[in-house]
Amino acid sequence: MNSTSALLPDRPAAEQESPVLIVDDLRTQIHTPRGDVQAVDGISFTLGRGKTLGIVGESGSGKSVLGRTIMGLYSTGPTMTVSGRVLIAGKDVHTLGASGLRELWGSDVGMVFQDPMTALNPVKKVGVHLTESLRRHRTMNRAQAKAHAAELLNLVGIPEPRRRLDQYPHELSGGMRQRVVIAMSLANEPALLIADEPTTALDVTVQKQILDLLDRLQDELGMAIVLISHNLGVVAGRADRVAVMYAGRVVETADAAALFGLPHHPYTEALLEAIPRLDQPPHVRLAAIDGAPPNMVAPPIGCRFAPRCRYAQSDCTLAPPSLDGAVTRGIATPGHSFACYHPVNAGGQ
Ligand SMILES: Nc1ncnc2c1ncn2[C@@H]1O[C@H](COP(=O)(O)OP(=O)(O)O)[C@@H](O)[C@H]1O
Ligand code: SF4
Ligand SMILES: [Mg+2]
Repeated sequence: MNSTSALLPDRPAAEQESPVLIVDDLRTQIHTPRGDVQAVDGISFTLGRGKTLGIVGESGSGKSVLGRTIMGLYSTGPTMTVSGRVLIAGKDVHTLGASGLRELWGSDVGMVFQDPMTALNPVKKVGVHLTESLRRHRTMNRAQAKAHAAELLNLVGIPEPRRRLDQYPHELSGGMRQRVVIAMSLANEPALLIADEPTTALDVTVQKQILDLLDRLQDELGMAIVLISHNLGVVAGRADRVAVMYAGRVVETADAAALFGLPHHPYTEALLEAIPRLDQPPHVRLAAIDGAPPNMVAPPIGCRFAPRCRYAQSDCTLAPPSLDGAVTRGIATPGHSFACYHPVNAGGQ
């Protein structure tokens, strides 16, 4: 069964060349009783068709808020203030309005979260989930939608797809459920997929299967992927570029080979040292980085990593280092930015 031909995007060449995702000085401030949390604090990047950007950082660094703000799930309202711009396939997400956003979510962008059950309704069969995803945006009759749903399950590697359509989510394993969610998110051939810790709830062998599946689907469908994880090991070998987040900001961004091969930010270095080795039992794995991320209501004035940084000097606490400062000082290579006054692996700078 040729499961992909009907799913291959047919987009004009000009559109293929322009970035699928443009994020420009994005800021998301969450208003809480304790004060305002600047969860996303001035983030910019672009992502081209078929490319993967890995976003990594410890728990609480703002990755999920960033993902949700990009999707338009978070926007200015009573509990938060969003500024900056997000363009997905040329559409300005935060000016779309409710119906425009629903159209965007079904057609231009898909999202996969850590827990597949957040996207699945326990009282609806798998087939209903998939046909609803399809029929909302397409003119298909019931039989056509069902056939396409089975094709989607086949695409995401679910055996006996016709039988699975009649099962409920609880009848599937965690890995199979996540495959169903991926099938739903790809039902309308989005140009962009945002995957927020898509494998964190799954056991190690299933994690690899799901990540390999996303790789294969990207090759077949050509979508761009934002792959969010607290573990640099998850994005290793899968991302074209990586952005390392700390306390709401990107502290280092580079092509994956440069970031893994020659990291310049002390936080990236520490994260690399803390990658869990999957061949070691959990009790001998390296501990996470000493100390805790800052209080995001009143973060440190200078470098936010300073209280935990083994290279900190007195100037680090005076003003925040900017992401392009190293480029200005001539110690960064094009496309490799880091926000640090005393970078590692930088020839004694
Ligand atoms: N709904 C919310 N209300 C208040 N604070 C929040 C909310 N969501 C996230 N935050 C805060 O925003 C920061 C970033 O959170 P999050 O994006 O979930 O981090 P990550 O996904 O990197 O673990 C954290 O300090 C978190 O406590
Ligand atoms: S600016 Fe200073 S405190 Fe911050 S990461 Fe660099 S060396 Fe460490
Ligand atoms: Mg998160």
